[in-house]
Amino acid sequence: MRSNNVVLINEEGLRVDGRRPNEMRPFKIIAGYLSNADGSAYIELGRNKIVAAVYGPREVHPKYLALPHRATVRCRYSMAPFSVEERKSPGRSRREIELSKVIREALEPAIFVEEYPRTVIDIFIQVLEADGGTRTASITAASVALADAGIPMRDLVAAIAVGKASDTLLLDLNGIEDQYGDGDMPIAIMPRYNLVTLFQADGIFAPEEIEEALKMAREAIYKLYEGQKEALKRKYLKIREEVLSSE
Ligand code: CDP
Repeated sequence: MRSNNVVLINEEGLRVDGRRPNEMRPFKIIAGYLSNADGSAYIELGRNKIVAAVYGPREVHPKYLALPHRATVRCRYSMAPFSVEERKSPGRSRREIELSKVIREALEPAIFVEEYPRTVIDIFIQVLEADGGTRTASITAASVALADAGIPMRDLVAAIAVGKASDTLLLDLNGIEDQYGDGDMPIAIMPRYNLVTLFQADGIFAPEEIEEALKMAREAIYKLYEGQKEALKRKYLKIREEVLSSE
């Protein structure tokens, strides 16, 4: 079966990396990955490698940017020049500006911004290696970094993309599938409230496909959510053990 002249699903129904259509890539999440930020996290999702760092809530500079009734959330998503096959210019691209906005908007509903008026929360995301789905993996990592910074949140946010090739929905597109497939739907959810905080669609999807994609995404997001909580628990249990052993 071909999609845009590139075979994305073979006769056995398997994808270019051997996955089944509804199979996500293996992932790993580490909370508190960096020592110099207030909170941080690292995620690997397939070949994606991404670090998220959080500072705040802290004083806003310049001061006129301070909002009287809530914290300002800023997000900066950057791709390292060596993160993609063709060296990316280190300058800020339009895509990075757009993804920074999209990621911030997916995370903001989870943060109790009203508890910290006149402050700013900064989220920095650095993509070290990219292979499709970096915005969704960044959201998953950044929400762990926010929790690691001790910022009060309604819930974590986890995200994944669902795409399409040869009329088949594919969970968690890799770079080749993203490039040659027929569509891409990044989805972020706050699992405790079952609340969608990001929904984008590139390509044409029938209403039934959107419903099915949401179902596939939700299942993957619950797995990521467990991984996020495990990562946070691991870090704080380790600290507890260290404190206990030093007493
Ligand atoms: O990463 P995500 O799927 O959220 O965003 P995208 O704009 O749909 O990019 C899809 C993929 O294209 C990225 O994950 C990278 O693997 C690749 N890409 C690239 O090779 N070179 C760039 N300058 C930007 C993206």
